[in-house]
Amino acid sequence: MDDPVIFGHHSEYEGSRGQAMNVEEFQADIREARLMLPPLADYTDYPYRRVIAGFDPPFVVTEMISADALIHGGARTRRMLERVSGARCEGVQLVGANPETMVEGARIIESLGFDYVDVNMGCTINKVTRQGAGISLMGDEDRASSIVSAIINAVSIPVTCKMRLGVSKDKVNVLSLSRRLEEMGVASLTIHGRSGEKKWGLPVVYDEIKGVVEALGIPVVANGGVFTGEDATRMIEMTGAAGVMPGRGLIGNPWIVKEITAAFTGIEYYPPTVVERKATCLLHMRYLCEYYGDHGGAVRMRRILPEYFSGCVNLRSLRQDIHETSMPGEVEILIDRILDDGDHGSYDWRATSAGGPSPTQV
Ligand SMILES: Cc1cc2nc3c(=O)[nH]c(=O)nc-3n(C[C@H](O)[C@H](O)[C@H](O)COP(=O)(O)O)c2cc1C
Repeated sequence: MDDPVIFGHHSEYEGSRGQAMNVEEFQADIREARLMLPPLADYTDYPYRRVIAGFDPPFVVTEMISADALIHGGARTRRMLERVSGARCEGVQLVGANPETMVEGARIIESLGFDYVDVNMGCTINKVTRQGAGISLMGDEDRASSIVSAIINAVSIPVTCKMRLGVSKDKVNVLSLSRRLEEMGVASLTIHGRSGEKKWGLPVVYDEIKGVVEALGIPVVANGGVFTGEDATRMIEMTGAAGVMPGRGLIGNPWIVKEITAAFTGIEYYPPTVVERKATCLLHMRYLCEYYGDHGGAVRMRRILPEYFSGCVNLRSLRQDIHETSMPGEVEILIDRILDDGDHGSYDWRATSAGGPSPTQV
């Protein structure tokens, strides 16, 4: 059942900036900020977007949201669409293959006051591609174009697309599809510079992104392999893109917003101390627990926490011990044991692996 309170208004809306944003403003913001944040399924949920918002990101986006689930599904999908304050511009990524549901989903997103809607054309997960969604849309340019065109006609917020180079390395069609989407009126495109083989080891092909940048007038945002400020600067140099989008580099690392911004503006960047990492990790857990409940939040921390301390020397034992935790108090004890040894965290393995009590027993 639709919630009439949340979904009852489809006319006037106010975006995160407090006003409806037109396409030109949106494009100018991309060119000015040069940084958009990625959709990351299971990571850029509402709790993490709250954390990220504290880092003053120019753009932030949800994880991919299924248009079908949004329309036909229950409260769980609806809850994924909570908006955070603090981002200058907040979008939702929609995934789906059916023009009607994609349009309906985009209307809901607009009615909730989001600033833009992004269409997923890059996801390679079987569950998604079997339905003709995600990267499958790249293999069917007509359908991809008709979905995007229908959405653009239905909403007045900017519509963007995120895609790869093509379904596979033998079927690279990013340039022709990009041209068509620009003609339809998309506000910007994000290009992940790999094809759809599901191999992280594939190199990012800067030249393909560059070809799209040179052929199009709208801002193109380059994605793939950006983990540091230096990577971001190189990506812009190699492709001429209007901006970059990190991907995995955002996981456990909201500081990447500051790092990339510093690299672009020539300001020196100081990585977070272990104390700062602990504080932010704890905040993240608090937000997770508020959203998913104590148990749900602590369990989600199992895969997230090690990412916050990826430089620490005893990461392996940290990864093991985190799987013993199921309540926030136990996770806190574990975080407490990560020692500050100067430059990076060193996890105090003596308290656990070398015969001491495991965190769950303390
Ligand atoms: C855990 C995970 C979840 C992702 N979820 C999405 C998603 O929901 N939508 C999307 O378009 N891309 C998604 N991606 C792809 C990233 O947004 C990005 O395009 C990709 O990681 C390439 O950038 P990287 O090499 O810097 O990681 C996901 C990637 C990862 C690792």
